[in-house]
Amino acid sequence: MPSARNSIRSAAIENGLLTAIWEDGHQSRFHPIWLRHQCWCPECGTPETGVRSIRLHHIDEGISIESAAVEGNSVQVIWPDGHRSEYAARWLRNHCYSDAERARRRVQPVLWDSTLRTDLPVGSLAEAEADPAARLKILEKVRDYGFCKIVDAPAGKAESQRMIRLAGAQRQTHYGTYTLKKKATVTNVGDTTGPLDPHVDEPYRYAAIGITVFQVLRPSSNGGASTLVDGFEAVRRLKQQWPEDFSLLCNTPVTCQRFDPGDNSHGNMRWYKSHLPVIRLDDRGEVCGVRMNERQISPLDVPGDQVVPVYRALKRLFELLYSDDLRLTLDLKAGEGLLFDNQRLLHGRTGFAPETPPRAVLTSSVDLDDFHSSMRLLQRELDPDAMHLVLQQGMAG
Ligand SMILES: [Fe+2]
Ligand SMILES: [Zn+2]
Repeated sequence: MPSARNSIRSAAIENGLLTAIWEDGHQSRFHPIWLRHQCWCPECGTPETGVRSIRLHHIDEGISIESAAVEGNSVQVIWPDGHRSEYAARWLRNHCYSDAERARRRVQPVLWDSTLRTDLPVGSLAEAEADPAARLKILEKVRDYGFCKIVDAPAGKAESQRMIRLAGAQRQTHYGTYTLKKKATVTNVGDTTGPLDPHVDEPYRYAAIGITVFQVLRPSSNGGASTLVDGFEAVRRLKQQWPEDFSLLCNTPVTCQRFDPGDNSHGNMRWYKSHLPVIRLDDRGEVCGVRMNERQISPLDVPGDQVVPVYRALKRLFELLYSDDLRLTLDLKAGEGLLFDNQRLLHGRTGFAPETPPRAVLTSSVDLDDFHSSMRLLQRELDPDAMHLVLQQGMAG
């Protein structure tokens, strides 16, 4: 039995629109051109796979519906040229574009500060491998909190793919699967031993890393704890306290760059440079991505009268980002790991003294869209209404 929200009570044409009334009382209104364009018949094809022969120039904007009727739990539509379309009720409800349904489909991030330490999002790799529902729970935590701690990550490098596969297909970067540890030539601060302020990785790329996968192979015995900060909460505070600085950072591009002589990437010399705002808003004006790495800010290329205001805004934002009030410190042990959204969270590290054998943390990444793809595929089996939720697209919002 479909739920009340996915059951159609009636369908009729009102003021030229298909009006569906649902068993939970909700009403949806669909424009004829929207319905005609999304026809799923064998002749038209399907927007889900993109294999479709229907073309917009075949459809008049003012197209009308000849007739519509509920049959079973779907709506049958006949068009003036005799073409027939069928829309499953559940599909229609999950694509209803009323204000209420569009708002419902938006996933709201759970913003947090340092008090989250008493109630960390945590998951088990072994449970996730045995049970897709447990894996989905982990991915939903990453979606909602921006991270999830994994309590039973493998302590060996050979099994790194298990942690990566939890989130999705690995993104191959010039680093490959990189082990952060002290090295003879250091051109990556992750290989140093001093404390690292919270930062986003690789904001110098147009598409920064999406999900970062940390796997602790060997922790330091005297520090080197991971720190996390919710960039969305920091930006919310900035907007509340300094609204003009907030809008400046939403609209002003800041240059970030990274010259890599090849030590970090198996001899692959690289020079990346991006010119993008540090805060990204989605179509509703909600924050959907942050990219802030103080060390990588390159010469500002903005109108002269904006130089001081932009620096002031950056200083205020970094003050929030670096405050104890926002920072979580996670003393991860060997065989623990983290999945985190690098387009929302900033991460850092406390300092430590070098020792032998050295602290080693494996870092890999999965693009945000591949992480979302993994979640959708699990929802398709376990929670089909959820696979239509609109996910935040990070810096690509
Ligand atoms: Fe980093
Ligand atoms: Zn069709």
